[in-house]
Amino acid sequence: MNISIKRGKLAELSGDLLVVSMHKNGALAGAALEADALTGHALGELITRDKFEGAFGEWLVLPTFGRVPFKKIAVCGLGEKGKFDADALRKLGGQIVKQAKDAKVKRVFLAVPGMDEMEIGAREAGQAFAEGLRLGSYRFLEYKSKKDKADVFVEDVTIVEPHKAKAAQIEKGIEAARILCDGIFFARDLVNTPSGHLTPNKLADAAQSTVTKGSRISIKIFDEAAMAKLGMQAALAIGSGSVRAPVGVHLVYRPKGKAKKKIALVGKAVTFDSGGLSLKPSDAMITMKSDMAGAATIIGLFKALPKLAPDVEVHGIFLAVENMPSGNACRPGDIVKAMNGTTIEILNTDAEGRVTLADALSYAQKLKPDAIIDVATLTYAVVIALGDDIAGLMTNNRKLSQKILNAAAESGEALWELPLHQPYAEHVKSKLADIKNTGAGRAAGAITAAFFLSHFVGETPWAHVDIAGPSFVEKETRADMPLGGTGFGIRLLARYLQGLS
Ligand code: BES
Ligand code: ZN
Ligand code: ZN
Repeated sequence: MNISIKRGKLAELSGDLLVVSMHKNGALAGAALEADALTGHALGELITRDKFEGAFGEWLVLPTFGRVPFKKIAVCGLGEKGKFDADALRKLGGQIVKQAKDAKVKRVFLAVPGMDEMEIGAREAGQAFAEGLRLGSYRFLEYKSKKDKADVFVEDVTIVEPHKAKAAQIEKGIEAARILCDGIFFARDLVNTPSGHLTPNKLADAAQSTVTKGSRISIKIFDEAAMAKLGMQAALAIGSGSVRAPVGVHLVYRPKGKAKKKIALVGKAVTFDSGGLSLKPSDAMITMKSDMAGAATIIGLFKALPKLAPDVEVHGIFLAVENMPSGNACRPGDIVKAMNGTTIEILNTDAEGRVTLADALSYAQKLKPDAIIDVATLTYAVVIALGDDIAGLMTNNRKLSQKILNAAAESGEALWELPLHQPYAEHVKSKLADIKNTGAGRAAGAITAAFFLSHFVGETPWAHVDIAGPSFVEKETRADMPLGGTGFGIRLLARYLQGLS
């Protein structure tokens, strides 16, 4: 999709669809007023006749029968003026793509929201809007027949903005959104690819593809033998049931100048989670190709890093494994030693993510970073606590928590902190080993999982983001979040890193 900005009067432009807007119970103003004049006031009449109120999400589409240089004109409702914020812009971007698709048009002109009037400023508004347009236009068609591929989808969006300085700001926002969305699309593709095709090796290949000339990214890949040499018994145990060998990946981005900080990002990379011998019921297994979404977020972020160019050394680490039952699989009751020497009693082979992360976090800690952030589809318990939309944040450091929550508030990704309530640390103590990979039944399952992880980060400031809910959409609730992988966390991490430099 090409998004550009144009200064000029509507009467001088032409295209397939023109979108103008109206606030709730507002009057036609600005571009909407110009559009009304273009149609000989048919637009205003229709608004009255159809009792169009301008509620957010309300749309009215008017064919022009060739009397105007646009084939169709649409008015979208922006809702109440005070409530129209960055996230509303993002949602609106998604709605516009949907409307254009329904209208079967490829070229859209937008004289939409009062982006320049918004508190966040024209640059941020432009970014949020362009994010919505792009994120809503994502499609995963790898496995679709030709017919579906022929669907008309908007290709060209032109934003009409008369003020020069504001147009320049909006343009910067559009470019920032493009960089991020390229990474997000890459992550979404990885999550949406079926596990039969996206093996641990393929996930490592995807990481490798971020290493291009001038990217300032380098990579180390560890095969099974190299992982064994590093002492990654825990991750290897989880991968042992699969015929697909585990692979370890360590990406490094080094900035041009001196790095202000060194940050390690760790992703859960279970390419399929059958539950292992503690086999999941059929229904719970259906979406488990998405259990590598954490790693996809890291890879997607690395795609964007060379252009984001933070003054931060960024390490991206994941240990890719497939969790399968077999004669060679790890058993409930097995005890393994993680890379940092901690012994783990595996009581449920479906709580596999934390066991693989034990080694990935141990590896990250050895790099002596200023902070470690892990992103993982770790527990269903976090979905019970916060639902499908909100990720859970758990951390051992107040400052880090605040930085990440701020980044999430800015990026528009819903994140809520759960407490590492110290008494619950007891729930992962094991009778036979140092710790066990289950908590106290189902109580506070997201938090006990985090306490398990805390054994592998030492004193390093560390944050754990459980994305089991928002990493994958099963029921579409907003137009900028199509079904399947979402790429949750990329925008947030990008903001966090840029805030450090
Ligand atoms: N990958 C799952 C968590 C999950 C569930 C992510 C649904 C996304 C959607 C994880 O490996 C898992 O199975 N966790 C168990 C842990 C339990 C056995 C202690 C869970 O949360 O039920
Ligand atoms: Zn599991
Ligand atoms: Zn899992």
